[in-house]
Order: sequence, then structure tokens, then C-alpha cells
Amino acid sequence: MRVNRMVKYYDIYDLFVSTEKNCLILGWLLLFRTRPFNLHVPARRSYLRKIPGKFIKIFRVTNLVFRLFLLKNVYRKTNNNFINVPFDGHVVLETSEGYKVFDLKRRLVATQYNKEHQGEIFDGIAKKLKEISKYDVSSTLKSIDYQRRCIYEEYLNLYKANNFYPFSTYFNERILPIWERNKERFPKRKIDVKTYILNQESFILKSINQYKEKGHSQEIVDYIRNYTKELSAGLLAKKSINTINLSLTHGDMHYKNILLSKKDGLMIDCNTIKERSIFHDFFYMLFYNLFKDSTISYHEFADKLDACFAKIAIRSQGENSELGNQFTIHENDFYRRLFYLEYVSLAFEFNINIYNDKDQVQEGLSYYYGHIKLLKDVESNISSRSLGNSEIVS
Ligand SMILES: Nc1ncnc2c1ncn2[C@@H]1O[C@H](COP(=O)(O)OP(=O)(O)O)[C@@H](O)[C@H]1O
Ligand SMILES: [Mg+2]
Repeated sequence: MRVNRMVKYYDIYDLFVSTEKNCLILGWLLLFRTRPFNLHVPARRSYLRKIPGKFIKIFRVTNLVFRLFLLKNVYRKTNNNFINVPFDGHVVLETSEGYKVFDLKRRLVATQYNKEHQGEIFDGIAKKLKEISKYDVSSTLKSIDYQRRCIYEEYLNLYKANNFYPFSTYFNERILPIWERNKERFPKRKIDVKTYILNQESFILKSINQYKEKGHSQEIVDYIRNYTKELSAGLLAKKSINTINLSLTHGDMHYKNILLSKKDGLMIDCNTIKERSIFHDFFYMLFYNLFKDSTISYHEFADKLDACFAKIAIRSQGENSELGNQFTIHENDFYRRLFYLEYVSLAFEFNINIYNDKDQVQEGLSYYYGHIKLLKDVESNISSRSLGNSEIVS
């Protein structure tokens, strides 16, 4: 896909489309090979909402091809909305880490990482993608170009999962089984509580101290530091739990990073994979919705979280017996709080610490500050619900 010249892509409907391909062939590929691009999703305008996705997609693709034709042949000089990249593909998307070029015909995706992701950061991503490709739960890794910070993967023509309300039937039937499948396939082990928590804590504190010295908002820095200390002290005080069950986890398992097939689903955007506590992705999937949707009642969330954990704890017992203990509702509280700690650690490792620019760091700190406050709010609802839930699930 990489070529020794620049290829021009015009911006139409948030996609950059190649000016070098035949418009009709491109139209055909856009109709039949762009399931993950959400071109079938109903338009926001109320009078268009009732039109079936199939027709919306045909309308969008026709419109796109027509505009591309005009841009290529009529308005060539007037359009400034384009990018030039050294890849010969059909479509380019701008992503959080750089850009992706899709060759829809050969079913290949090239991810070109930006300069923030150079050196060790890029090597780390490459290592992670190699690691996850062993378990057949994500798109297949084709090759890695270390020199040019580029990774080639298989393009999956599958629909993106829908945004789901936590604990809904859709979540239970389509999303949760993917998490359970991942958990079965990923390697697991146990670790001593103290070692794990102190490691997480010291990583966060080291990161946050460096920002305090660099003059970032005192209020945010202090808040995150106190929250971390409080959390880890609380976790360490739980004398009944001595070991933590760890597993490989995705780390950013929200609906936009899940592509669904008829039977199950595959993960994309796996840069954040890492060994974390075994329920990390489970809690992440549920809490992610709170980060994005302020209408969910925390009280209802707290109630349903217990029921959902109980269900998966029962299903996890067979596999967990080999790890030597049973999951209890009591452990729900422990693993949930541990998830908060891991979430803060993840925010620094995969987001805030990556940036050298002070404004970008500040933006990251403020963004996660909002999430941490929300975690605290939700947790106060969970903690205040009826106690006496510490029996073993059986
Ligand atoms: N291997 C793939 N197969 C099909 N579509 C993909 C693949 N990787 C990414 N995409 C599409 O590109 C979009 C952005 O990619 P992603 O890696 O999730 O970047 P971001 O950092 O923006 O979340 C995805 O939501 C999906 O639509
Ligand atoms: Mg993504």
C-alpha cells in the first residue's frame, strides 16, 4: 500500500476518499465493503430517521461518488479539504493516534502513527498487537514497519457494535459473551495483592508528581493524588483478599472497538492491551457508558451492577477453581475499586504521559479528572446501598 509519492484524498462525510480510483468501482466498494464505517446508520435529522439503513447507505454512497466526480473533474482547484498521504488505498480516516488507510479491495488497513507514538511507544504498541494476535480475538496482524511507524492489519468488513445501555438484553446477548470468550482465551495468573496495588499506586503518583512540578492545575493534581492514595489504602485494608486474579485485558473495550459477526465479535484498536485484574474489561464496558451518558441513574446502575457481577461470577467459577478460590459478591467491591485504580493508571500510561505539549497534558488531566469525579459519585451510590451482600455466590 505504501508508495513513493503522495496520493490525494478528498474529505467527504468525514471520510477521505481517494481521487485516484475509478468513481464507480469506489462506489461499489463503499456499498459492499464498508460495514465498520457506519454509513448505514440513520441520519440525525428527524425526517430522515425513519428511512431504513440500507437506503440511507445507498443515498450517502451515491452522493459521495457524485461529489467526488465533481471534485475530480469540475471544481478541482477550489477544494482545499484534502490530505496527501504516501499510501495507495481507497479511504483514509483520521484517528486519535495518526491516520488509517483502508485498501477495501485487498482488505488491508495501514495505521500510520504520528510522531507522539515514536520510539519506545511505537515498539510497545507493536509488541502488544503481536501479543493479542495469538488469541484470535482481534483483526489479524499482517506486518510492522518499525522504521516508518506503520502497522498493517486485516480489514474486517463487520458492523460496529451499537452503543448499549448497561445491563440491557443487547449487552447480555451480544457484548458480554465476547468478554467471556476473551477471558477464556487470555492467559491468567495470580499475584500478591500488595505487590500489585503498590505498583499501580507508585506509577500513578510518579506520573502525577511530575505534572505538579511542571505547574499544572494544583486542584486537579491534588485531587487525583488523594483519590489514588485513598483507593489503594482501602484496597490494601481488605484483609480477606490476599491474591488478585490477573488476565490479559483489552483496556478500551467500548462499543466502537467491537466489530460484530453473526455468531460473536472481534476487537479492534488493541493498543491498550495489558495484564490487569480479571474483571477490568467487564467494569470498563459498564462504566464507559456512564462517562458518555449522563442520564443513567447511578442508583439503578449500582443495583444492576451487583446482579450482573453475580451472574458472571457463577459462570466464572469453573474456570476460577483452577485458580484456587471462588468469586464472591464481596469481591465485586474489591475488583470494582481495583478497576478504578487501574483506570487512573491507564489514563496516564496510554494518554496523558504520551504528550510533551503542556496544553495537551492539561486537556488530558481535565478530561480524566471529570471521569474520576464521576467514579467517586457512582461509588458513593454503590457503597450506600444495602449492605449484607457478602455471601458466596453459589
Ligand atoms: N481492522 C479493521 N477492520 C475494519 N475496520 C477497522 C479496522 N480498524 C479500524 N477500523 C475502523 O476505523 C475506525 C477507527 O479505528 P480505531 O483503531 O478504533 O481508531 P481510534 O483511535 O480513532 O479509536 C474504527 O472505528 C473502525 O470503523
Ligand atoms: Mg477506537
